[in-house]
Amino acid sequence: MLIDMADDWTTPITVEQMYGYWDVEWDEAVAVTNRSLDPRPNSSIYDTLSSLGVEKGDVVLDIGGRDASGGLAMAERFGCRVIVVDPVQANLDDGLRAIAGHVHGYLVEIHRGTINQIPIGDDTVDVVFSRDMLTHVADLDGALMECRRVLTPSGSMLIHQVFETPLLEPAERERLCADLATVPDRLSIEIFEDSVRRAGFTIRAIDRVGSEWLESLLEREDGEKRLLRAAHMHRAKDDIVDEVGVVAFRVMEANNLWTIYRMIGKLEERVYSLTLDRT
Ligand SMILES: C[S@@+](CC[C@H](N)C(=O)[O-])C[C@H]1O[C@@H](n2cnc3c(N)ncnc32)[C@H](O)[C@@H]1O
Repeated sequence: MLIDMADDWTTPITVEQMYGYWDVEWDEAVAVTNRSLDPRPNSSIYDTLSSLGVEKGDVVLDIGGRDASGGLAMAERFGCRVIVVDPVQANLDDGLRAIAGHVHGYLVEIHRGTINQIPIGDDTVDVVFSRDMLTHVADLDGALMECRRVLTPSGSMLIHQVFETPLLEPAERERLCADLATVPDRLSIEIFEDSVRRAGFTIRAIDRVGSEWLESLLEREDGEKRLLRAAHMHRAKDDIVDEVGVVAFRVMEANNLWTIYRMIGKLEERVYSLTLDRT
């Protein structure tokens, strides 16, 4: 006999419903949830960049470009020049080494700077590329105005950013922000979009990536270990802290959570395509 399932999502499931007959067997239900949703890989961000018309000879600014790996990927795919700017010396050192060893390195340069003080002149850049870095920026209005300053009048900007959803609890938010050098306001979609408009940009497209890139990674990666590492760090906290230090522990543990929360919808990845308002 089939038991009627709850007709809404708030009525408690009964023991009879839980252990009784379902529409399908447990294994069949698991197989349904195992089915791939054909997620795009994270390289889809370069397809979005392509839709902004980037081509050979264009100048792209990769702001917060870390070790120049993104800059080199863009130079390789588009034949564009890339100026990478990052404030952290260790990243600049890695970037210089990567550029020197890459066949397209002649198209890429790397400089010290921040998004609020970009070390390049006015109207010099065709596209500003900002991936996963605004989270660290306190003065977002100033940062976006500075990006506007370096863009040519027909220029555009691509921003990848992780935002909170209503599922993120206040204590989880506080913890992530403290341990990942994140400015709490940067998790807000509303504050972000208001700032974008104030700085004189028009939002042309929003790609709600959600968990797609991570799904793609997990489907390809054999033996994803983040959950297991989270369990180890919880159970052997003191020993691991002794070995790696407090800062490494906090950043690594919060980074695990940052990934897990993106998988379960507490955080949401988005890619914004922006152009400059015509005045
Ligand atoms: C999560 S990493 C992302 C790196 C790279 N964009 C990528 O997608 O792989 C964040 C980067 O932002 C840089 N960053 C932090 N504060 C910044 C600022 N105020 N201006 C520019 N870059 C900044 C960090 O040094 C780091 O390289």
